[in-house]
Amino acid sequence: MKRIAVLTSGGDAPGMNAAIRSVVRTGIYHGLEVAGIYQGYRGLIAGDIEMLKITSVGDIIHRGGTMLRTARCEEFKTDAGFERGLNMLKMYNIEGLVVIGGDGSFQGARRLSDAGFPTIGIPGTIDNDLAYTDFTLGFDTALNTVVNAIGHIRDTSSSHGTVNVIEVMGRDCGDIALYAGLAGGAEAVIIPELDYDIDALCRTIIHGKKRGKLHSIILLAEGVGKPYELAEEIHRKTSSDVKVSVIGYLQRGGTPTPSDRILGSRMGAHAVDLLRTGSEGRAVGIKGNEMIDIPLEEAIMMKKDYDKGIYELARILAI
Ligand code: F6P
Repeated sequence: MKRIAVLTSGGDAPGMNAAIRSVVRTGIYHGLEVAGIYQGYRGLIAGDIEMLKITSVGDIIHRGGTMLRTARCEEFKTDAGFERGLNMLKMYNIEGLVVIGGDGSFQGARRLSDAGFPTIGIPGTIDNDLAYTDFTLGFDTALNTVVNAIGHIRDTSSSHGTVNVIEVMGRDCGDIALYAGLAGGAEAVIIPELDYDIDALCRTIIHGKKRGKLHSIILLAEGVGKPYELAEEIHRKTSSDVKVSVIGYLQRGGTPTPSDRILGSRMGAHAVDLLRTGSEGRAVGIKGNEMIDIPLEEAIMMKKDYDKGIYELARILAI
């Protein structure tokens, strides 16, 4: 293999730049040429491709977002769009591809691999919604951002004695809410994987107030949603003043944590090693601090569940 390429696709995630840098530099270190494809599969179809040098990825390891930019591309899901993308790879003499993105991006990577094109996936998404890996790239940074936000909101919650509903991202996965809830000392965490009991929630709030708690933080995953309706119901049942904060895109950006930079660097290098040694159609992940890889197909199919131990601990610690 002489020439490989890298693209980022779907929602951006902090740490993607570290992964791009790692793919480019380990690729060049091992004698490969590395092309950068801009704007994910959209740029692939359009031929928005350029050869990258060691210096092309300088000064990016500490930056959020992705220097290759990204897109969600419906056209690549069509047969015509897919064929155009595949032909573009051939036109540029690209022999292997690293796709950095979430499960939607992995679907495209898998299709390429099924068509015989060597493709490796790196899980880049703040959502931590891929079951085969302990962590996805960007999750740790998003968590830090959310926990900081909780700290700020807790100050005002304690000062005014308000109940604060905080909605965080994660699509159908409750991990950001769950882990941030534990790290931020939330009174309750509401995730899509689990039904919640509004009366039990309100009892927790009233009990907390009675025992002298000044703040009440309710972490709500976007997969459950409806934060204003929830606030209204809590107000009706507890007579508390309830405020809502939807953190939104704030949690997708920002400088990546050291953990995400290290994870991106390791995953990028592992992806290049796989291509160099003739493995294809694999998804890179981390398990117990070891780099792993499994077939893309399995990575897409595996069903993610929430961590019951973390959930229970967050509940107990909120008493
Ligand atoms: O997958 C990352 C994510 O930020 C999700 O948490 C969220 O549901 C979604 O992307 C938002 O997507 P968009 O950028 O298309 O609004």
